Amino acid sequence: MKKTTTTFMEAKAKGDKLSFLTAYDYSSAKLIDSCNIDGILVGDSLGMVCLGYDNTLKVTMDDMLHHTKAVARGVKEALLISDMPFMSYQASTYDAIKNAGRLIQEGGAEAVKLEGGTNVLEQISGIVKAQIPVVGHLGLTPQSVNIFGGFKVQCTSIESARLVIEEAKRLEDAGVFAIVLECMPKEVARIISKSISIPTIGIGAGSGCDGQILVYHDIFGLYDGTKAKFIKEFANIGELTRTGIKTYIDEVTKGIYPDDAHSFKMSQTDFNQLMEELNKE
Ligand code: KIV
Repeated sequence: MKKTTTTFMEAKAKGDKLSFLTAYDYSSAKLIDSCNIDGILVGDSLGMVCLGYDNTLKVTMDDMLHHTKAVARGVKEALLISDMPFMSYQASTYDAIKNAGRLIQEGGAEAVKLEGGTNVLEQISGIVKAQIPVVGHLGLTPQSVNIFGGFKVQCTSIESARLVIEEAKRLEDAGVFAIVLECMPKEVARIISKSISIPTIGIGAGSGCDGQILVYHDIFGLYDGTKAKFIKEFANIGELTRTGIKTYIDEVTKGIYPDDAHSFKMSQTDFNQLMEELNKE
């Protein structure tokens, strides 16, 4: 069944939990989509897990479009959300609408996500007015890494907790249909989830959220970067792949691969004729 923004609102009303994963390419998007997941995010985390950057700040609109197009070809049922990269929306509402429009029109996304609270309310209202669904993102917003002084848990003081609860309400009023809550105490995320009528999607924000999102590479052993406390490894494809690669190298080196079962064969008659011709030369 095709998931839409309406599906999310209905899930919130019924108290059903929503599940999301990131995807950055056609094959993994198709695999994830076949598992009846609610949403797929082409996260700007691709800067780290696909492009090898230290953070998300170098990711461009071109990068996001390239990966969103690939993912869109593999997604049929999940709602496809694409991240707005750093500096694609911060400078003006005009930029925000134009770039959100590109992710939908050229990329094939069905919604966009951007980071921030009061500082981006105008941009959010503009994008929503342009009929593009928006997901908000509060707490540890990775594009603010240099302001935070690193990837740290946010909203840990009473004051910052009060502020983020207020910010979530403002985002809802501005028209977002869901909010990602990243790396904050579970108590704060639970309060936010109870005080707004749109779904919250947690990542390192405990079980009180209406849904969860994780980075594909983090939970399948495909990324060697620092592991945050909230990351659970659900399978280790990385290790399995490493074993496979070593076996492949071993078989090639020893001449075991390719064997007859993995080779094409000429008919014996044609082969005999060819050899006869060559021997005459
Ligand atoms: O870029 C990303 O993958 C994200 C998720 C972690 C929410 O923003």
